[in-house]
This record gives sequence, C-alpha cells and structure tokens, in this order.
Amino acid sequence: MKILGNYPTTRLRRVRNTNWVRRLVSENNLSVNDLILPIFLTEGKNKIENIKNMPGVKRYSLDKLNTILRKCKHYKIPMVALFPYTKKNKRDPLGKEALNENNLVCKAINSIKKNFKDIGIMCDIALDPYTSHGHDGILKNNEIDNDETIKILSKQALIHAKAGCDVIAPSDMMDGRIGLIRKKLDQFNFKNVKILSYAVKYASNFYGPFREAVGSKNILKGDKKTYQMDYRNSDEALREVGLDIKEGADFIMVKPGLPYLDIIRKIKDNFKVPVFSYQVSGEYSLLKNGIKQKIISGDAVKESLVSLKRAGSSAIVTYFALEIAEKLKNLK
Ligand code: PBG
Repeated sequence: MKILGNYPTTRLRRVRNTNWVRRLVSENNLSVNDLILPIFLTEGKNKIENIKNMPGVKRYSLDKLNTILRKCKHYKIPMVALFPYTKKNKRDPLGKEALNENNLVCKAINSIKKNFKDIGIMCDIALDPYTSHGHDGILKNNEIDNDETIKILSKQALIHAKAGCDVIAPSDMMDGRIGLIRKKLDQFNFKNVKILSYAVKYASNFYGPFREAVGSKNILKGDKKTYQMDYRNSDEALREVGLDIKEGADFIMVKPGLPYLDIIRKIKDNFKVPVFSYQVSGEYSLLKNGIKQKIISGDAVKESLVSLKRAGSSAIVTYFALEIAEKLKNLK
C-alpha cells in the first residue's frame, strides 16, 4: 500500500480524538447477528447444573430449556448450538446412542423447534459425546477408523435433520464426511438443511472445560492428533477447506478462535465463503477468570470478539453470546 499524506498535514489522531468520530470510522462492528450460543443439555428433570471452570455456563434438562431459549429470543440471537452431556452408562465403543432417534439432542431439537421456530439450531456431528473412549470416531485395531466412522456420522446427520436440525455441523475431522453427509441429506430430500463444516479444527489445548461439560474429559484415551489438525500448519487448513467446499459445505468453521486469526483471514481471502469461528471453552474460562480476578478489564470480551470479526468471521460461536448481546444494547 502506498502511504498518502505526511505529518503534520496528516494527523491520524484527528479521527480518534472523540468517541463520536471513532464510531464513525470504525471498520468492524459486532452485532447480535454475529452470535451463536452453545447450550449444554442434560438428562432428567428440573436441572440447571453448573459446569466446572465455566462460570455462568450451565447444563439444562429439557424442561428447563425454555429459560435460556427465551433469553435468546429476547436478544434475537440467530442460532444456538446444542451439546449433550452423556453419562457413562449410555456410552459404548461404537457410540450407538448417537443413532437413537429419541436421544437427548433430538428431543431438544424437537422442543426448541416447537416453541422457538425462528431460532436456528446447529448440532455437532461427532461421536465423542457417546463413545466410551471419548473419541470422535470408532476404534479399529487401536486406530480411529475413518471410513467406518463417516458411515455412522452420515446416519447421525440424517437423524438430526429428521428431528428438525437446521445446520449440521460435523466437528469430527474425518476425511470425506461432508460429501457423504450431503449425499445422505439430499437422498432423503433434506436439500435445505445446511452444512457447517468444522473444516479447520485444531488438536487444541483449549478444549478442556468443554470436555468436562459433555462428560468426556476423564474417559478420553490419548489425544485427538490423528484426526484434528496440527497447530503448526496453515497451508493444510486451506486444503481442508477447499475439499469441504467441493463436497458441499455451506459454511466453514475455524476452531479455536483467538489463536487462529491468521487462518480465518487466509480462508476468507482465498475462498470468499462464510467463515465462522469458535471461541472455545478454554478461551472463555481464561477471559472469565482474568476478568473476575481483575487482571484484565471486562471489555476484553468485546475486543476478542471484534478481533474475530476483523480477521474475517461472519459469525462467532461464543459462550459470551447472551452477556455480550446485553452489552451491545448500550453500545458505546
Ligand atoms: C467434539 C467437540 C469439541 C468441542 C466442540 N465439539 C472438543 C473436542 O474436540 O474434544 C470443543 C468446544 C469448546 O472447547 O468450547 N467434537
């Protein structure tokens, strides 16, 4: 870029020196339209449970879901993401509960669609809430078997679509699952069900509190490095995205958020598709704790979300969605 102008005729501080002028020249702004709220589900009745290390985030039993969905409706949050907590007795090596049409997620989709039809619902496609070993796929000879896993995932996607899920979000990082899922959905005439591919999901150290929230933390054997991406790589991210777009993905997810701003920007520049980012549980916990202990200011939340917008995110999955929606009402 050629720099135009020179000091003292040009003074960049002139367009920063009052609040009103800063608002006029702001290049990126956060709105409620950018926010997706993750919601954790739990079996049983009359339950709103706390989650370790995620202050303010809860698990809801089906009869209590309305309490949080009413807030989403009030703030006009466009979409929620559902995650089930599964106890050990409903888990097995094949994650069979994933294919139960009456499982917790399917029941939640049903109830939300009945009562809040204008809110979009996205659901993870992956087996980790249901497997006894905590992996996203099934194990064969001690390896996650790609091709057997994606067959199950396409069935899981169909079951979610039948229950009324709007956005199928494969988060498992198997190869070829987007194509297979698209084919399955089309075959059953779910042509308008959208696919949000977690095309770029890193084997990250920031997922801890989430694994606790869905009950897979203590049972996970080993790590997920044979399927989730190596955080040293970024060209590989573009290859992942290119393949998933070809296979039929409507949107692309990058996950985690803040440590991967460069990846979001690269994808945006190269593919011009809607890119979503996921500010994950570990990011949430760090910010929450930092703010609580007065190490950083509460505005750090907005700063982190606007950074994701600036990098090129169209929307952001964040546990701060409701909190920030409230703040955006009195935007300065
Ligand atoms: C699993 C899944 C994970 C998250 C969303 N879906 C964790 C993992 O891959 O182990 C993490 C979300 C978060 O940390 O907030 N398919």
